[in-house]
Amino acid sequence: MRIDVVTIFPDYLAPLDLSLIGRARRSGLIDLAVHDLRDFTTDRHRTVDDTPYGGGAGMVMRPEPWGRALDHVLASGGPGVRPRLLVPSPGGRRFDQAMARELAAEPWLVFACGRYEGIDERVQVEAAERFDVTLVSLGDYVLNGGEVAVLAVTEAVGRLLPGVVGNAESLVEESHEDGLLEYPVYTKPPSWRGLDVPPVLVSGDHTRIATWRHRQRLERTAARRPDLLAPASAAPVEDLEIVP
Ligand code: ADE
Repeated sequence: MRIDVVTIFPDYLAPLDLSLIGRARRSGLIDLAVHDLRDFTTDRHRTVDDTPYGGGAGMVMRPEPWGRALDHVLASGGPGVRPRLLVPSPGGRRFDQAMARELAAEPWLVFACGRYEGIDERVQVEAAERFDVTLVSLGDYVLNGGEVAVLAVTEAVGRLLPGVVGNAESLVEESHEDGLLEYPVYTKPPSWRGLDVPPVLVSGDHTRIATWRHRQRLERTAARRPDLLAPASAAPVEDLEIVP
């Protein structure tokens, strides 16, 4: 997968050199480039913002550097390719695991990180002629800019790409992959500060372990995130079918 990020804070994206995503970049599974929006300004002060028309607090990102930056990114792709342009915004589509899977199927993602009060509206209108534009939100709270959203989305999407996470099985039983939260996990020692590992996990009985784990997932989801359980199955946990 190819990923381009346009930002006024390229250093903010440094964590994408680390851990599994960093390794995926080095091995060529993810081709990720970060572009400094200020490189697409033309004035001595490398200005990217200005006061809002109509008045009001804060500053708005000017359209010209954005237009040039997006032209530059697009020009490096093949003819006729339409990348997915993701614009992090608190007013965007709420990012979730289903969207991560959807984005993992795309060949090319471009992120446009806004700062200040946002990017001049005409940028996304004009970009829609050349990109499939999606505003994306991490959740119902306000960040200072899109960079943290890029880190989160890139990690969630990147780990779904074949070969990025070593043990593909570990992707299967994760929270949100099938609508349930994960079961609790334990490792050595068997007893720690008076707390024992649940005996079923050291029983060696794999059928019982699978049943116990599935039940834990149902109970946790019902207790912590009842909204994830479909209305049809919003019955007491005791009534839910156990399918190991
Ligand atoms: N930029 C500012 N707030 C944001 C949020 N909640 N999600 C994504 N991008 C943002």
